[in-house]
Amino acid sequence: MSEIRRPDDMVRITTAQLADAFIAEQVELIKKQVGDKKVLLALSGGVDSSVVAALLIKAIGQQLVCVHVNHGLLRKGEPEQVIEVFRNQMNANLIYVDATDRFLDKLAGVSDPETKRKIIGGEFIEVFAEEARKLDGISFLAQGTIWPDILESEAGIKAHHNAGGLPEDMKFELVEPVRILFKDEVRVVGKQLGLPDNMVYRQPFPGPGLGVRCPGAITRDRLAAVRESDAILREEFAKNGLEGKVWQYFTVVPDFKSTGVKDGKRTFDWPCIIRAINTTDVMEVTVEHLPDALIDHLVNRIIAEVPGINRVLFDYTPKPPATVEYE
Ligand code: XMP
Repeated sequence: MSEIRRPDDMVRITTAQLADAFIAEQVELIKKQVGDKKVLLALSGGVDSSVVAALLIKAIGQQLVCVHVNHGLLRKGEPEQVIEVFRNQMNANLIYVDATDRFLDKLAGVSDPETKRKIIGGEFIEVFAEEARKLDGISFLAQGTIWPDILESEAGIKAHHNAGGLPEDMKFELVEPVRILFKDEVRVVGKQLGLPDNMVYRQPFPGPGLGVRCPGAITRDRLAAVRESDAILREEFAKNGLEGKVWQYFTVVPDFKSTGVKDGKRTFDWPCIIRAINTTDVMEVTVEHLPDALIDHLVNRIIAEVPGINRVLFDYTPKPPATVEYE
């Protein structure tokens, strides 16, 4: 593991000019470290791995091999965007693995939240390792480690899994070009590298993805209801100027049904819960109070467009006592 540390007197990267200087410096460092060897990267499409990919593409082009594992729990349009931005626009060497069936089959019938998280994390490493084994001549593993990850792991708050928890026989030297950056700096650098705004400024999204928003045992139909309602919520927030203003917003579809009525007939369907929150440190969060007209519009659209939903509920609980996510 590289021991590079953020210099105490480092100027915070807040401008395009500072980002350009950082990019130029990193491109040289990456070229020097990697030479003519190959680098592997697990590209989730999140801010950190996307910025690392863009930096490495700029430095070493086709010597970077990106692997995008679709675990079936990503938000609507995300895998497509990774392919569009990295393969089509940046000409990256991108391996796309649709492992949806594999993940959902393993998760079938599993209702315990921690077990679900373990299955998703474990299966991710297995799929990624399988892809890595198929490749010849990989010498380096790139990672989107950022400075808070280092600080938190040093403080014992969060275990930072280097090498993504890959099996013992797969040891690579690490390439961590955004290691000394804070999150806001990663975004400025990403913007300067030409990544789209909705990738650079996107809201936090947990590793287990929509899996934690489909509480209890995940079924494909309920997962589809989470994905569709989330897409509607994001679209409406964007249209109403709330994107980038509200810290995090999402939908949850719990595993219980209630009676309803549609076209004169009885229905027995799930509720869809909307949660929109603000925070600075994630330890304490407050609820975003939405305009009445937007609430009405969201209810109408979700009921009309998402199969299996007959009620829309709003979660107005701060943290504490409630956590942000439901599992
Ligand atoms: P909680 O539910 O703990 O969430 O109040 C706090 C913030 O962390 C996000 N979150 C995760 N992020 N991997 C992540 O990278 C995870 O497994 C994970 N679980 C929760 C959550 O979305 C919220 O922003």
